[in-house]
Amino acid sequence: MQDIQSPPEICDYEGATYRTDFWEGKGRDYEDRVERLALRRLLPQRGERLLEIGAGFGRLTQEYNAYNQVVLLDYSLSQLQYAQAHLGTSGRYVYVAANAYKLPFQQGVFDGATLIRVIHHFVDAPAVLAQIRHALTPDATFILEFANKRNLKAVIRYALKQQTWNPHALEPVEFAALNFDFHPQYIEHALFDAGFATGERIPVSFFRVAVLKRLVPTGLLVGMDNILQRSGLLYAPSIFVRSRATGDTPNHLDTDDIFACPECGKPLTRRREALYCEHDDLHWAIRDGIYDFKAPLEQS
Ligand SMILES: C[S@@+](CC[C@H](N)C(=O)[O-])C[C@H]1O[C@@H](n2cnc3c(N)ncnc32)[C@H](O)[C@@H]1O
Repeated sequence: MQDIQSPPEICDYEGATYRTDFWEGKGRDYEDRVERLALRRLLPQRGERLLEIGAGFGRLTQEYNAYNQVVLLDYSLSQLQYAQAHLGTSGRYVYVAANAYKLPFQQGVFDGATLIRVIHHFVDAPAVLAQIRHALTPDATFILEFANKRNLKAVIRYALKQQTWNPHALEPVEFAALNFDFHPQYIEHALFDAGFATGERIPVSFFRVAVLKRLVPTGLLVGMDNILQRSGLLYAPSIFVRSRATGDTPNHLDTDDIFACPECGKPLTRRREALYCEHDDLHWAIRDGIYDFKAPLEQS
């Protein structure tokens, strides 16, 4: 019998060589550059504290310099260790190993959040969006990137009967294990249900085609993408969406105690190199400057 209480499966990058296998020297300069263009269009001029969910090795973290503090959250300790080694331990960056389905934060402690190249790994995306909304202040900015199911290639392939799944149907499609493409309308509804008002949407990466990237200079492709990003044509493989947190929820942006127990949501107290939840009698370790909420410490 299926266990209906079992937590959603996680796409685990622990120890993965994502940076060297996917990005550096792997011909994805075009994708990296056009994603930064879209982000810069959507980010506010200034902010206090931003939560970067699924920050990975910190590829995009320095784009968030308008914020006074950036909290990098990822399920993979090894990705965070790499980010920490490169971004430093100044206090401007806070490193948190945790599951996005169980965010370890108090309500309303961030006025910004990003989720870039991550939602495609979520079997229950609405659950994560609700967690993110909880951590945000009213009117906070949330920038989400998702893999677009209704991209031009999928539309053409479906029309030519070379693809079985329908790119126009609203439900997400799992094209590989724990890899989902989403329909723009599905994302809009999910954002609304989680307490966000959708603002600008930017289609990105129109020329993500191997042969084009090989034959056309990257600068030219980036320039053309830059123009198309303003077209409103939501048929690119990647879409960036800026939304605003709605509703009259608490604002605790001025607190330094941002953490809460990921199990019960109650505040934590500091005990040497750990954070302690009195309610659940659980200790959460702080290891070499990384807050580790993946699993509580064993009781001795
Ligand atoms: C494709 S990488 C993207 C990294 C970064 N945002 C970027 O664009 O370079 C996806 C990241 O999401 C993280 N991730 C996946 N599932 C997660 C979860 N349930 N909670 C927290 N992080 C998760 C992975 O560990 C990985 O670092």
